[in-house]
Amino acid sequence: MSGPCHFVVFGALGHLVTTKLLPALYHLELVGRLDEPLSFVAFARRDWDTERWRVHVNNALAEQYGAHLDVAAARRFIQRFEYVKGDYTDPAAFQHLLARINTPQPGICENVVFYLAIPPDHFVDVVRRLDDAGLNSVVGQHRIVVEKPFGTDLVSARELNAELRRHYEEEQVYRIDHYLGKETVQNLLVFRFANSVIEPLWNRHYIDHVQITVAEESGIGGRASYFDRSGTLRDMVQNHLLQLLTLVAMEAPASLDADALRDEKVKVLRSIRQITVDSLNDVALRAQYEAGEVNGAVVSAYRDEPGVADNSNTESYVAIKFHIDNWRWRGVPFYLRSGKRLAARHTMVAIRFRDPPHQLFCDTPCENMEPNWLVFAIQPEESIRFELYAREPGLSMTPRLLRIDTNYRAEHEQPLNAYATLLMDVIEGDRSLFIRFDEVEMAWQVIEPVLRHWSQTSERLYSYAPGSWGPKEARALFEKPYQSWRNQP
Ligand code: BG6
Repeated sequence: MSGPCHFVVFGALGHLVTTKLLPALYHLELVGRLDEPLSFVAFARRDWDTERWRVHVNNALAEQYGAHLDVAAARRFIQRFEYVKGDYTDPAAFQHLLARINTPQPGICENVVFYLAIPPDHFVDVVRRLDDAGLNSVVGQHRIVVEKPFGTDLVSARELNAELRRHYEEEQVYRIDHYLGKETVQNLLVFRFANSVIEPLWNRHYIDHVQITVAEESGIGGRASYFDRSGTLRDMVQNHLLQLLTLVAMEAPASLDADALRDEKVKVLRSIRQITVDSLNDVALRAQYEAGEVNGAVVSAYRDEPGVADNSNTESYVAIKFHIDNWRWRGVPFYLRSGKRLAARHTMVAIRFRDPPHQLFCDTPCENMEPNWLVFAIQPEESIRFELYAREPGLSMTPRLLRIDTNYRAEHEQPLNAYATLLMDVIEGDRSLFIRFDEVEMAWQVIEPVLRHWSQTSERLYSYAPGSWGPKEARALFEKPYQSWRNQP
């Protein structure tokens, strides 16, 4: 974005801003990427002023970076901020914001980013008030950044989009899925499309199935009021897991241009076989965690979490199988699962290759030969692991499993907060890592039959022990007896 710019953050005192946005923006300051005359406006309800807010930013950064905080960069960063106190429903607060943006020299602001880090119930209010107050008519370019969840189902997503589009063009809307900001997620694209040896293997002839796991050790924390209305299918599968699936399954785009990339992702979503009510119990499974122990700590059952209804049917775990009906993937199941209070925090994409067509070594001492796997560990481990066979040293012709492992990052390379890349892209106007509305729409369509069915019945809600890998019933999704969940990268 050229020219001076105001970056307005709504919900500035929320957890997301404190833990993710502020550190990411500070990182951009540190590495010299905020050299434009960029100023931030923090908008929140608390009765604070700019000085108080700046102390808060300083404390938040000090807590996160400790002795590693670069004091000069932090000072520069903090000076960019102003604070505007306001309620999302109060037109006067938006007038106040307008005045802040237009002073001290009216007209100096050429570009504005509005970042909605607020509960989704307030999206529409804020968007309308921005327009009513004339904030969309300030000269220059405007961008609006919307956090997930984008709607709670297909209908509400379309309504929200229609409202946004009344005020902004699609090119101005930046829908965030922070998984696309993760370096190891972006690496899926580079690994697939920067290596010519991968492409010939990347299809139904060589791949038996794909597993995508996003496992979390933590429970729902203090987010019951959101999570209990959402559940894992909406919270994780509709966005993060389906995004990972599109990156694994998409065709090579003609360029890295935002639309070329997103066109290919949408094609994948469109090719996912519609889940029918008849097939539903065979392809999707939900569960809640019971009470138990995780790492020596006693934890409550999902239904006993503060704020969760005693009879809640909301799932804290989902396993779901998709088929992609196109030439590349016909007959290759994609098994996805995600859950809270599982045995470990692991996000990974695991590709299981087909067995060799003829088992030459079946009479050797190497019994139960494992298949070849290619595993992308996305977090917390960041690696690419290829499991192949090679001859074991010794007198006999025995194959031995060889793990070709590479850490994604060298020791001196620091991980980036996923938001750093995304915020940079917002400022620079690169939309490739943001979700276009047809992607959102298709992702809701893909899960809609399951959402609808689960909301109408309490049947088949399984349970699992905290600290386990989920309900044992999740095994039933596999199509072949030799297939099973891979729990470790
Ligand atoms: C969020 C979900 O989008 O992603 C949370 O709302 C989840 O429930 C989180 O815990 C996981 O993100 P990450 O980056 O920690 O894997």
